[in-house]
Amino acid sequence: KFGDGTTIVVLGASGDLAKKKTFPALFGLYRNGLLPKNVEIIGYARSKMTQEEYHERISHYFKTPDDQSKEQAKKFLENTCYVQGPYDGAEGYQRLNEKIEEFEKKKPEPHYRLFYLALPPSVFLEAANGLKKYVYPGEGKARIIIEKPFGHDLASSRELQDGLAPLWKESEIFRIDHYLGKEMVKNLNILRFGNQFLSAVWDKNTISNVQISFKEPFGTEGRGGYFNDIGIIRDVIQNHLLQVLSILAMERPVTFGAEDIRDEKVKVLRCVDILNIDDVILGQYGPSEDGKKPGYTDDDGVPDDSRAVTFAALHLQIHNDRWEGVPFILRAGKALDEGKVEIRVQFRDVTKGVVDHLPRNELVIRIQPSESIYMKMNSKLPGLTAKNIVTDLDLTYNRRYSDVRIPEAYESLILDCLKGDHTNFVRNDELDISWKIFTDLLHKIDEDKSIVPEKYAYGSRGPERLKQWLRDRGYVRNGTELYQWPVTKGS
Ligand code: BG6
Repeated sequence: KFGDGTTIVVLGASGDLAKKKTFPALFGLYRNGLLPKNVEIIGYARSKMTQEEYHERISHYFKTPDDQSKEQAKKFLENTCYVQGPYDGAEGYQRLNEKIEEFEKKKPEPHYRLFYLALPPSVFLEAANGLKKYVYPGEGKARIIIEKPFGHDLASSRELQDGLAPLWKESEIFRIDHYLGKEMVKNLNILRFGNQFLSAVWDKNTISNVQISFKEPFGTEGRGGYFNDIGIIRDVIQNHLLQVLSILAMERPVTFGAEDIRDEKVKVLRCVDILNIDDVILGQYGPSEDGKKPGYTDDDGVPDDSRAVTFAALHLQIHNDRWEGVPFILRAGKALDEGKVEIRVQFRDVTKGVVDHLPRNELVIRIQPSESIYMKMNSKLPGLTAKNIVTDLDLTYNRRYSDVRIPEAYESLILDCLKGDHTNFVRNDELDISWKIFTDLLHKIDEDKSIVPEKYAYGSRGPERLKQWLRDRGYVRNGTELYQWPVTKGS
């Protein structure tokens, strides 16, 4: 565990990721007393900034609701300074090293260094190389956190891996997929393997289909140019949603240790069919129906004839004894009617005969917003009637655990890294297999100009075809007239 005498260096300290996620997470940990004592935090980037400008920039998204937290923010900033330098050459890294040593001299041994690379892919390997050459304190004393994009396809991902592997040991590398730091995703293991009533039905005999959906209510809003070469599949499906799928579908690991869990994730991913174009629906948002919201191609830097995919639904098949024939649907879209990420496990029909129409059971695990788990089930309508209704067993976190602070994903992951726990980080073979599943499809979409994503209106539920496509894959939408989320749910 990295304790007292730890230096955290954030490379790319002037960038968006650092400002929006990394520094607020470090502050969140600091506020809650979870960073090592006397930690020193150093920002490193190419931009010229004074210390004041640096402090101003990194504290932009700090949550400081009261005087006490404002005071803590001030203290936090006292422990962080900025070093400006390039990502190539030796000079910048040497200065960085001197700065760290200056701090370490004041601290008893052992000293630890955590490097957080909040960097664009173009300078990523250079930085990993420079750090290893000039700022590396020796085995067991350094860790490196890296972030997506881990390549653009299987070949480029392997190239990156091949560049990184001679420099940093796998045990020193922490690949962030921030969905693995989300509370409800971290809950999946215990939910699945700690409840016999779930373990017993978790297979093709009882489950009809599984959907993992990611919906955002806003478009690319200015990031359209960047998004154009990436698309929603690379942005959230190949990584975030596939990670969720792998935990949801894997076999029981021997232990809850990092390697045992990651072994099982890789194993189940190896059973997933390579995707092809017949397995997907692609969409791109146009203006909203009322014309108030712009379409994707109206965004800065997006060509008018862009075929970038802002919505995709994919049908994955897992060929193993547990899941043969059960569709796993991953779907994600920008500029939809709501913001929500959830897992929906739909069970098979009950045997016909007793009652005319019984909607299917569904287990819904909502990752965000407002974490919850609810089971939609059939029940007799209370009172002097024999009618049945759909109701739910509901565990909504902010009601049940109203006093518990749920940490930001990045807080939880940085803490895991300080502890040296790899469970919620992506291993190299996991990354490889995830790209294998998607690469043919991505190349086909990139290269075949006859593939044009279906338009959907900003603020709608996605492409028209989606409903029928889901039906064709076994999903039965329960009549909403039967099921309504009660207005005054338990308190
Ligand atoms: C990022 C994507 O990885 O995840 C963004 O690049 C997306 O496009 C974001 O908006 C979603 O993360 P969260 O935590 O807001 O659900």
